[in-house]
Amino acid sequence: MPEEGTPRRLPFPRPVDVAERIERAPALDAAIQFLSDGVVRVLPPGSRADALHGVPFGQPAHPALVRLPLGCWTSAALLDLFPGTERASRTLIAAGLASSLPATATGLADWSALHRHQQRVGLVHAVSGACAATLFSASLIARVGGFGRAGKVLSAGGLTAATIGGYLGGHLALRLGAGASHAEPIGHLAGIGWQELCRVYELPDGRPVRRQLGYLSLFVLRRGPEVSVLSDHCAHLGGPLHQGRAVRGEDGDCVTCPWHGSTFRVDDGSVVHGPATTRQPSFRCRVTDAGMVEVQPRS
Ligand code: FES
Repeated sequence: MPEEGTPRRLPFPRPVDVAERIERAPALDAAIQFLSDGVVRVLPPGSRADALHGVPFGQPAHPALVRLPLGCWTSAALLDLFPGTERASRTLIAAGLASSLPATATGLADWSALHRHQQRVGLVHAVSGACAATLFSASLIARVGGFGRAGKVLSAGGLTAATIGGYLGGHLALRLGAGASHAEPIGHLAGIGWQELCRVYELPDGRPVRRQLGYLSLFVLRRGPEVSVLSDHCAHLGGPLHQGRAVRGEDGDCVTCPWHGSTFRVDDGSVVHGPATTRQPSFRCRVTDAGMVEVQPRS
């Protein structure tokens, strides 16, 4: 008998236990390295990669696009339970297959810029999606060939694979934070009003440094008399921006994250290049007559 107050152990592993085992499965790493190198070769940093990450939309494109194949395939499998719906089911399966292509492209682009635990779960998520697409393709072929019954069985298998993939996608986003902004809480955690950060003469010219505002780490860049301050934790996955490269180009003064190359404007934190899709929290700055840099979060 379990002691009172201790959670009851289930006789089978919970889905989350399986997902956590996948996170800790180094056996997947060789395949991950191979695939991720391939994705980076085909999709080097630039406007094409930015579009797939969702930079122009301000949030990752994959979660929105993946709803189309999932919705179509779920509807097709449900319609199979009713008579006289064969034509509608076929149409939905075909629409799901067509819409799975952009969903796959955006997913691969995002996956190639994740950390290893996320990539392990992401790989199994992608394999489940590929199994679902294969089974629904076979289902469509069977239906067109007049094997309606086999087509329904294949669709049920495809929906099972898609559901497993969907669960792992949720684990990836909600538990492991892939796709979420890792800098979002910073603006809310900083105090209200102007706060002293450091003396301006302590800041090197043109080289980013990190300064603490209470327990918040801030990226600080001085260019002559101008001081720019952002959250130091990159919105993509929390990389240390002060270790990045400060560059001056046609987009103005920018910083490139050392982890996956996201580039932000230092004056307002807006994204110039992904994989980050959300603005880096930025701070207003002023230098007092006594040479003290004061900051205030931008609302
Ligand atoms: S942590 Fe990935 S780009 Fe900064």
